[in-house]
Amino acid sequence: MIKNPQQRIRMAVFPVAGMGTRFLPATKANPKEMLPVVDKPLIQYAAEEAVAAGIETLVFVTGRNKRSIPDHFDKAYELETELAERGKAALLELVRNIVPPKVTCVYVRQTDALGLGHAVGCARPIVQHEPFAVILADDLIVSHDGGALAQMVEQFNELQCSVLGVEEVPHDETGKYGVIDPVATDTPGLWDVRGIVEKPSPKDAPSNMAVVGRYILTPRIFELLEQQGAGAGGEIQLTDAIARLLNEERVTAFEFKGERFDCGSKLGYLKATVEYALQHPELQDDFKAYLKSRFG
Ligand code: UTP
Repeated sequence: MIKNPQQRIRMAVFPVAGMGTRFLPATKANPKEMLPVVDKPLIQYAAEEAVAAGIETLVFVTGRNKRSIPDHFDKAYELETELAERGKAALLELVRNIVPPKVTCVYVRQTDALGLGHAVGCARPIVQHEPFAVILADDLIVSHDGGALAQMVEQFNELQCSVLGVEEVPHDETGKYGVIDPVATDTPGLWDVRGIVEKPSPKDAPSNMAVVGRYILTPRIFELLEQQGAGAGGEIQLTDAIARLLNEERVTAFEFKGERFDCGSKLGYLKATVEYALQHPELQDDFKAYLKSRFG
């Protein structure tokens, strides 16, 4: 439990050190989170969602091929000078404002890709004793309700306990997710978590409510992660540490309003690209016309 009821969520951890095997060879020299959807890399959509939720420090857990992410969030002197000299004010604005100036970016290294739980644990020296958010940038969420994380932060502010972002998934797909055993509360869309299992087969799954790349966690998780052994797939799983956390503290799950695209899979990535292109002010008309001509 959090001792100080006034705690706020100020930091978000972005694990970006995965191998991205489903996107090889695109991810051979670049992290998956740098794949663009139309004109922005996945990690930028995630950073914008965090900033919209009031996050002040973005903590990136990077691995091999780490350079492009810090480069993306850094100042690009040469590019900015070039754009200024050519009078390209709008583009200059775009590259200058990747994140607002008041937001700090911090980078920590995960030297071996030992799993998501291990990656989150690498952020401990930065986050220390605060509750914090985790965003998996490959789950891209479009929301017209202020952003998925902002909705979860609102729940946290009320409850002062861990909040997992969840959605219903088809029963035959439980094996791709951490799946919760939910207990209804008086608040619509909010569940108490009685149990959680990583990648259960449909017959063993406690429900079809899956955790989808958004977490708010109390700092106790770091201690649990330090003692966490390998689980499903031989990886140190965040889900397994959460399963132990909920024996000690209240853990809730919140069904945020928004549409999620699993950009860690090729099909989800393509769907996101189509949806974002159809909403893009410069592209939507031509793209719609193209789709019509292609599919009738
Ligand atoms: P995934 O389960 O999608 O694994 O990781 P992956 O390695 O990125 O991709 P595939 O399955 O090989 O195609 C979920 C999230 O956890 C991060 C990933 O970067 C992704 O954001 N992660 C995973 C780490 O940062 N470190 C790890 O050791 C594992």
